[in-house]
Amino acid sequence: MCGIIGYIGNKEVVPILINGLKRLEYRGYDSAGICVLCKNKLQTLKKKGQIIELENELIGKEIVGTIGIAHTRWATHGEPNEINSHPHLDCKNKIAIIHNGIIENHFSLKKILEADGHKIISNTDSEIVAHLIEKFYNENLEEAVIKAIKYIEGTFGLAVICETEEKIIAVRRGSPLIIGIGDNEMFVSSDASAILEYTKKVIYINDNEIVTLTKNNYNVKNLDGNLVNSEVQEIKWNLNEIEKAGFKHFMLKEIYEQAKSIENTLRGRIRENKIKLSVDIDPKLINKIIITACGTSWHSALIGKYLIEKISGIETCVDYASEFRYRNPIIKNNDLLIAISQSGETADTLAAIRIAKNCKTLGIVNVVGSTIAREVDFGIYLHAGPEIGVASTKAFTCQVSALILFALHLRQELGLELDFGLINELILISGKINSILDKADKIQEISSHLKDAQNFLYLGRGINFPVALEGALKLKEISYIHAEGYPAAEMKHGPIALIDENMFVVFIVNRGEIFEKVVSNMQEVKARGGSIITITDCPDDEMIKKLSNFIISVPNTCEELSPLINVIPLQLMSYFVADAKGLNVDKPRNLAKSVTVE
Ligand code: M6R
Repeated sequence: MCGIIGYIGNKEVVPILINGLKRLEYRGYDSAGICVLCKNKLQTLKKKGQIIELENELIGKEIVGTIGIAHTRWATHGEPNEINSHPHLDCKNKIAIIHNGIIENHFSLKKILEADGHKIISNTDSEIVAHLIEKFYNENLEEAVIKAIKYIEGTFGLAVICETEEKIIAVRRGSPLIIGIGDNEMFVSSDASAILEYTKKVIYINDNEIVTLTKNNYNVKNLDGNLVNSEVQEIKWNLNEIEKAGFKHFMLKEIYEQAKSIENTLRGRIRENKIKLSVDIDPKLINKIIITACGTSWHSALIGKYLIEKISGIETCVDYASEFRYRNPIIKNNDLLIAISQSGETADTLAAIRIAKNCKTLGIVNVVGSTIAREVDFGIYLHAGPEIGVASTKAFTCQVSALILFALHLRQELGLELDFGLINELILISGKINSILDKADKIQEISSHLKDAQNFLYLGRGINFPVALEGALKLKEISYIHAEGYPAAEMKHGPIALIDENMFVVFIVNRGEIFEKVVSNMQEVKARGGSIITITDCPDDEMIKKLSNFIISVPNTCEELSPLINVIPLQLMSYFVADAKGLNVDKPRNLAKSVTVE
């Protein structure tokens, strides 16, 4: 959700904070602000809109210093405007805070603080934290923060500075926070991308830990004030991985990275005719697998169910994490819960693994050191590299690749023979993905005819039904065109009523046993005047040619791997439609990359 960054050192702080905010902008981009300890006074500047607006506002302003905090916001409480943006200050402008998360009891705290005489000026949940700290402040910021957060219910990643102390205090519960250790300088941030160009040495802060940063030192304590021994880790990403490398948008760059990123997911995990995963689970003892996730990761989970059941024969069910956590799910001791998350910070997915206390948990996660990655019993990292575009692309294909590996691993550990045809095809899949990317011009040309459409249906069957869902999600989130995904055969149970000459229907049709049935669905659409865009490995089939307004041909592969192929043109199509509409592809309205609030 929101992005936070703080710096303390010898360098001029404003450029470092602005640079950090730009890297964090994918987490939220409706307003931003900065607060600097400047000549023993806190100087604050906030601006509605993107970081560039704040940067422009800073021109000609005398805000200088070597200690500061900054925030880019994704509004939860209170509209995006200057008053509601962070940093928030106490009544005397001596304490400033930035916050990521939600203070659930802010109403009751507000009443108490106002009764105490505090003047709360914004409509946010966050501002009360500055006033609570003010209430407890007695010349020791760390102590005041510890006292204040004892009253807070909800989630927070917080960074706090104060006019009279040369330090930054940071604390977390439920929202990500890392500290970066440089030479005579320290950083605090929501994630590594903001500090990567200054240092690769980081500490991942755990819930209920508080950090005090001075320019030469850091200490991490628990909330009883006892020092905690924290491991300093090395970030493996490089700066060029978080830059656009000549692409117009991060999303396009990440679409093009998929062949490579899948190779990275597979690397070292298929050796000597064996699947090598460090997942020490005996599948003979697994009763049932439950996969939980949100958004695009939930679509991968649906494909995962299909793969695991087909390849290993183990019963698998899939749940939205947001539903799972509140419905008292039946979890047996010998069940396995799999959480899939690109960011490893999605609040609902994290909550889902926390309620599965009695069974083993496995995380399929991209961001190394993220909270989900640290809380599960076993993990499969995607190694997809940083995904910055809000619309998830390479994480999806890497998640599906990891799920194929895991399904094969289960089969192998059950003592069943592996399908080497499938494994060899998996090794070759990157080349096939690149062959689709080579035809992006054609997909761009088709997309130019679609940019004014109002409604889309995406239809697929079997393992490609979740791909239809993913195609629809990609289109709606970045182009704001209404789109729905359905299993093709479900169309006649309702959605067919929507079809007229204004409806575009995207079919995913692969050769195989249900080919004819999907072609029949195409006929039903055609008969009602709908326009058809067909993604197919049978572009020369006479019926396909007759029924389709546009055909995007894809290479043939085995059914299990077809989602990896079919999703690529759908991602490109969404991208080109949104770009043709002139929309901000990497920062679609109302969305944030990492949803760390409920
Ligand atoms: O980081 P996660 O994979 O847990 O995120 C889950 C969803 O928030 C995410 O996939 C979201 O739906 C994307 N915007 C889809 O493109």
